[in-house]
Amino acid sequence: MIKEFMTQDHRDCDALYAPLEEAIAAQAWDLALERFVPFKEAMLRHFAMEEEVLFPKMEEFLGGGEGPIHVMKMEHNQIRGIIDALGEAIEAKDRQKALGYGETFMIMTQQHNMKEEQVLYTMAEQLPLDKEQILAQMQKVEGR
Ligand SMILES: [Fe+2]
Ligand SMILES: [Fe+2]
Repeated sequence: MIKEFMTQDHRDCDALYAPLEEAIAAQAWDLALERFVPFKEAMLRHFAMEEEVLFPKMEEFLGGGEGPIHVMKMEHNQIRGIIDALGEAIEAKDRQKALGYGETFMIMTQQHNMKEEQVLYTMAEQLPLDKEQILAQMQKVEGR
């Protein structure tokens, strides 16, 4: 249930990135800026659902420290940095830089999402968590 919901949210975020990349490639900068906003918001919201709701609940059982959740949070920070750099490249109308950051974003995010879908979310499903409550709390998280 958590796995399905969060995997679908990964797909929804991906779906917001593809048209953004098209606009950058076409150097349609107004359109790119317009598409960057909901894309960034969806990504930050997804990270917030994990960092504020799902991960703390999992850590109640797994403990904090240097485990896989810690790695996921570090990757979120890296990806947030790339999203900001991408936004700056779009504002600067720098096609080459924007496409470069976009490609880095895609590679990092695909690898990150795969680890979550194959490992983290599977672990979440196996832990004795109140999944209905977690799902409801995640759905209440607002955009950043
Ligand atoms: Fe994540
Ligand atoms: Fe995720």
